[in-house]
Amino acid sequence: MTVFKEQVAVVTGASSGIGKAIALGLAAQGAKLCLLGRNLDALLAIAKSVDSPQVVSYQVDLTLDEDIQKLKSHLVEDFGQIDLLIHSAGIISLGEMKTAPVEDLDLQYRTNVRAPYALTQALLPMLIPRQGQIVFINSSAGLTAKAGAGQYAATKYALKAIADSLRAEVNALGLRVLSVYPGRTASPMQAAIYKMEGKAYNPERLLQPEDVAACVINALSLPRTAEVTDIQVRPLVK
Ligand SMILES: NC(=O)c1ccc[n+]([C@@H]2O[C@H](COP(=O)([O-])OP(=O)(O)OC[C@H]3O[C@@H](n4cnc5c(N)ncnc54)[C@H](OP(=O)(O)O)[C@@H]3O)[C@@H](O)[C@H]2O)c1
Repeated sequence: MTVFKEQVAVVTGASSGIGKAIALGLAAQGAKLCLLGRNLDALLAIAKSVDSPQVVSYQVDLTLDEDIQKLKSHLVEDFGQIDLLIHSAGIISLGEMKTAPVEDLDLQYRTNVRAPYALTQALLPMLIPRQGQIVFINSSAGLTAKAGAGQYAATKYALKAIADSLRAEVNALGLRVLSVYPGRTASPMQAAIYKMEGKAYNPERLLQPEDVAACVINALSLPRTAEVTDIQVRPLVK
């Protein structure tokens, strides 16, 4: 399949879960891949397994400005264009306000809000001439804040604001911006949440990363007369 032939996709969080599934799905449709994460071994294993015209793995800590600036130079040199920017990297810490350390909020802000903002800002000059597409993997927590997840929800509400504002700025240039709000998805992050909650983890009852990837790829594949702005997707409870 060749929906994204000759297109270059930058995928954050590509070493695991939803980001990995999106990267694999885009490659299956002919995209060239820039895989981003801190775990280089995981990225290299994915790069080895994927059938794509060009795959490069970049070890990047997205909370560090210098890593983002270095990455930008590498992408200019290695690919020279960017068509798709997928933000899937993210972290979660749980805890009620009376006890949750403020340092946890700081790290979630740096990872879930500041990093996608800074990376988008750095790569926009490459996305604009390609009339690129930008995807933010948000969360159901970015629409409804529940007890015990106020810090994480705050970062995801902020991410929604960033996506909505960016869309209003770049639509006129032909770029599309999509926010995806998944419910519980089977991934290492969700396994850790179940552990923190002291509940049994049954991943087969949850959304699968490939389900989220299918939503993203369908939306990105639509003709340019249409824009999907927001997708809410949750596990089917039987
Ligand atoms: N799983 C769910 O139920 C669920 C539901 C709704 C929304 N989401 C959102 O979906 C996204 C993906 O989550 P997931 O479930 O796929 O989690 P995951 O399996 O834990 O993957 C998280 C990814 O984020 C990357 N990452 C974290 N901190 C980073 C940093 N400082 N620099 C670079 N990369 C970093 C990790 O890569 P390295 O470790 O290699 O750095 C990893 O690839 C997140 O934004 C999450 O908030 C998840």
